[in-house]
Amino acid sequence: MSTSILSLKNVTIYQEKNPVLTNINLEVKRGEFIYLIGKTGAGKSSFLKTLYADLPLKEGEGRLVGYDLNGLKEKNIPYLRRKLGVVFQDFKLLPDRNIKENLLFVLKATGWTDKAEINLKIDEVLEKVGLKHYLNKMPHQLSGGEQQRIAIARALLNDPDLILADEPTGNLDPQTSVEVMELLRKINANGKTIVMATHDYALLLKFPSKTLKFDEGKVFEVVQRTV
Ligand SMILES: Nc1ncnc2c1ncn2[C@@H]1O[C@H](COP(=O)(O)OP(=O)(O)OP(=O)(O)O)[C@@H](O)[C@H]1O
Ligand SMILES: [Mg+2]
Repeated sequence: MSTSILSLKNVTIYQEKNPVLTNINLEVKRGEFIYLIGKTGAGKSSFLKTLYADLPLKEGEGRLVGYDLNGLKEKNIPYLRRKLGVVFQDFKLLPDRNIKENLLFVLKATGWTDKAEINLKIDEVLEKVGLKHYLNKMPHQLSGGEQQRIAIARALLNDPDLILADEPTGNLDPQTSVEVMELLRKINANGKTIVMATHDYALLLKFPSKTLKFDEGKVFEVVQRTV
């Protein structure tokens, strides 16, 4: 099996008719942890949206986790997304149901039916994020950091090959950000590839890793000290 988990060739990403990023060439290997940085409006979210097929790829070639983004059919998007874990700044937990039901919702939507397997999986992902006893809590009873850890647990349910995180610490205080980051680094150390957009330079310095800068429609790798 190839070690490339994401490959983009001459990709141009559009928002409406405007090219936001032009001519991106990028190869991400299994197990990497990659930061995306750049000013607001530089295109980080547009880039991630293209990867999880929220924004269609119109120009260039893109392939990730075994799927071609070119000509990806609407009906195949859910299958692509099962191989991705997506984490957002605002957690996106369903507010009207408890943590177990939040996780159950995703498992049912992705075809899980066996009750015993479902319960095992829910326990497993909650264990990974250190919140095993939170099954019956409602999202509003959790702190922001805890909600984000649940969102990360949710992203792990289908054992994705790649985790895409769009400013996952954007709503958290510095200490909680470090805790969430430690969790993401642990998940990465256990073999998952992670691509994460962030504005948090303190985190970059504390947890150095490969960094791609988005600037004036281009994407290029930067070495940490020039960040
Ligand atoms: N849904 C949309 N429709 C039209 N234009 C959009 C849309 N979303 C973003 N854009 C535009 O695309 C460009 C890139 O935005 P994007 O959200 O990808 O930037 P970003 O790097 O994620 O910024 P931030 O750091 O603020 O999250 C901006 O000029 C923005 O105005
Ligand atoms: Mg963004």
